[in-house]
Parts: sequence; structure tokens; C-alpha cells
Amino acid sequence: MTNLKMPSDFLWGSASAAYQIEGAYQEDGKGLSNWDDFVKIPGKTFKETTGEIAVDHYHRYKEDVALMAEMGLKTYRFSIAWSRIFPEGKGEVNEAGVVFYENLIDECLKHNIEPMVTLYHWDLPQALVTEYGGWESPKVVDDFVNYATYLFERFQGKVKYWITMNEQNIFTTLGWMTAMHPPGKFNDEKMYYQVNHHVFLAHAKTVLVFKELMPTGKIGASFAYSPSYSLDCEPQNAMSKVDFDNLRNFWWMDVYAYGRYPKNAFTYLEKKGLAPIVTAEDRQVFKEAANQIDFMGVNYYQTSVCEYNPLDGVTPFAEMNTTGKKGTNQVTGIPGLFKNPANPHLATTDWDWTIDPSGLRYACKEITSRYDLPIVISENGLGAFDTKTEGDEIHDDYRIAYFDAHIHELMKAVDEGCEVWAYCTWSFTDLLSWLNGYQKRYGFVYVDRDEEGGTMNRYKKDSFMWYQEVIKTQGGSI
Ligand code: BG6
Repeated sequence: MTNLKMPSDFLWGSASAAYQIEGAYQEDGKGLSNWDDFVKIPGKTFKETTGEIAVDHYHRYKEDVALMAEMGLKTYRFSIAWSRIFPEGKGEVNEAGVVFYENLIDECLKHNIEPMVTLYHWDLPQALVTEYGGWESPKVVDDFVNYATYLFERFQGKVKYWITMNEQNIFTTLGWMTAMHPPGKFNDEKMYYQVNHHVFLAHAKTVLVFKELMPTGKIGASFAYSPSYSLDCEPQNAMSKVDFDNLRNFWWMDVYAYGRYPKNAFTYLEKKGLAPIVTAEDRQVFKEAANQIDFMGVNYYQTSVCEYNPLDGVTPFAEMNTTGKKGTNQVTGIPGLFKNPANPHLATTDWDWTIDPSGLRYACKEITSRYDLPIVISENGLGAFDTKTEGDEIHDDYRIAYFDAHIHELMKAVDEGCEVWAYCTWSFTDLLSWLNGYQKRYGFVYVDRDEEGGTMNRYKKDSFMWYQEVIKTQGGSI
């Protein structure tokens, strides 16, 4: 127990994403997304799992929100599937799709749960991919802004917190570098940076429209932030940390918060002929949006260790542990700059993710010093194998220990001067892990389904009651 508490208006929350929970992938006029197609390619996902049914949230959202209310959740972060709103990505609106989210939002509000909406959590209307290559074309910028504007106008007065992009760094890296996400491109580095530039423009222009329409609303992007530690004080390793931060962290966060790319990283990419094309107008838009964003969204899972990586060293391409068999992850890096070996001081999950609670405080302090922005922790959680007993109980004490330690560090960060508005765990119910199937569970609520299917019945895990108490006591029970 500590004597720390969060302020009374702190948003204790939990999060999800449309493709991972909704299912109903062809219902009520929804168009297909890039993920609906991608999961059909053999070998792309764990045991060929898809989100076609997911955990059936589309039909059970009332039951799920009732559980959130019972828990005492203050905010629920979810994403909207673009292809439910605009089945073709643009043009005609699909009213039934809009109504689904309107009902979900109203259900949250009815229970005093603040909806926090992510506009893009990785499912892009396939029609836009077919027409012009999706994020590869600058045409996507206007279509995204149009989609976002429609939602702002429609949900004005109901939704105050908005997140433009979820983990731009992850979906572009896995999409254009490692071929693990759609569009499945391998080592297309030039396009990778250009795609990112388009995503930044879509984000920035959306922020500008938002501020015109909802000046008192709050908007930011959610970044998958992996704070870094130098392996030791050997100067080459220390330098590798600087390079890692510039290319793997500041490349995104600096654009969101400062409206410019980090200079050293840009020079490095220019020399390699990989830098994106940036016009004076783009720079202006970036700056104006950066001046107006309200918070830095952070998805925090793990920290990285940085060590110098020789020119003939490891590459960004390696096996990723998607099975839960510990020790199958491989070291990656950029030859001539850095690599990220395991941290010998920290334990790992079954999927080889390091567990580093104080890294969350470190992340908050870094953001506070560098950007001086309020912070929304939009994701943090533990993927684990859970077992349901014959009495329908789930004793996930490991998840409780994980959250306990992380929230404790977050409260210390606040005590040390960081302004943190919200903490959303990943996730509320169990859901589809994009590449790891249904066996990698994150929720407070167990969903009876596996890779083959199941009843979809919901069961409260021990962590459910534990988080309920945390919320009730404003963190005082930790
Ligand atoms: C984040 C994503 O990367 O981490 C989520 O925003 C994702 O969508 C979560 O599910 C956990 O990752 P994974 O690979 O374990 O599902």
C-alpha cells in the first residue's frame, strides 16, 4: 500500500479495437477492410484466426458496457471501423454502421462512462486499397479527414476525447517493413517513410478540423512508446540509444508534438535516399496541428535496450514470438546503428515482452520533459494464458501483480509532476490478438472462445474485482 492516490477526475479506463472485438464483419452494410482480406492469406495469423466473429461485441455490446458499469469504469476507449461508416471508404454513409456506434456511445453515457474514440485502429476500407493503394497514396489524406469530420459532426456533444491514429509506428512497420500486417510489403523502406508521411498529414489535418468544430474537445494520437536504456556507458552503446530514439520514437512523437521530424534521423534517411517528400505546406500543417494537440497518447508495454550494432549485424527482420513459447523472439536492429537485446534485469511474458513497471514512469517523465504535454495512457496490459476453473473462476493473480506494479509507478509519475489524464488497460474483455490468436488473453473479462470458437459467454476474472477496488479508492488500494 502507498499513500498515493489519483485525483478524483482521473479517468480509469480500459480499451479495445473494432476488429479485435466486434465480429459481424459483413453485417448491416459494413464494407470489407484490409484486415478482412489479409487474414485469409494462409500463414499470416496464428492458426489462421480472424476477427470475423471475434468476441461478438457487435451483438453483445450492452452486456459488455453493463460489465464496465459494474466495474466502475470512468472511460472506455474503443475504435470505429471506418468501413462500417463508409463501406467504400468515402461517398455514401452507411447509417446502420453509424447507429451501432451511436448506441454504444449512448450506452456508455447512460452509465457515466466517458467514451474515448480512436478513429483508426488499423482497419482500412479495402476499397481504398483497391482504388489507390490505401496509405501509399496522398489521396487517402482527404478521405480520412472526410471520415473523421463526419464523425466529429455526428457525435459532437457526446464524445469529448478523440484519438486520431493508433500506433502509427507499429502498423506501418509491420505493414511495409516486416510484411506481418497488411499490405504485407517486405523491406519497402522508401514507401514506409512516405506512408508515414501520409498518415502524419491525415492526423494533422484532422486535428485542425477538430479544433474548428470542437474547440473544447480533446485530441491526440496514440503512440506505441518503447522508452530506451543504453546497454551500458560504452560510448558506442550510448550513441546507439540516441539513434534508436531518433528513428524509433522521436520520429513520431516529435511530429505530433513539435510538428517537425528529428533532424539527425531526417539527415540519416536523406543520405540513404529514404526520406519522405515534405512540402512547405506540409510543414505548416504539421506545425499548426502540433500547436493544437491536447495530449500525447501512450500505449506502453515494454522498454528497449540499445547496443551498437555493427554493419554486418542483425536486421529489422526476424522471427517474432506469436505462439507463447518463451524464448523464441529474436534480436532485431539497424546495421551500423543499434540493436535491441533482451534486458537481463527484467522478467518477460510468455510472448517475450519485457515486464518493466518503472518504464511506465520513465516514459511519462520523458514525455513531460521533452514535450510538456498531458498524457493519456491509452493501453497497458499483460497478454497471458488464462485458465477457467470448473467453478467458472479465473485466478489471474499474475495480471493483478502486473497492473498493481504499473499503476503504482504511474501514481509516482503523477506525484513527480507528470500530468496524466487517463489510464486505459488493454483490454476490457478478452479479444483477438492480431497475430497471436485468441489464446493470448488480455481482458478483465474472460470470453469463452478459442481459435476454433466457443459460447462467447463472459466471466469475470479475479483482476476484474481487483480493478473495481482500485477505481473505487482512486488507486488508494495499491
Ligand atoms: C497494441 C495494439 O499494439 O498492443 C493492440 O494497439 C494490440 O491492438 C496490443 O492487441 C497487444 O498486442 P498483441 O500483439 O499482444 O495483441
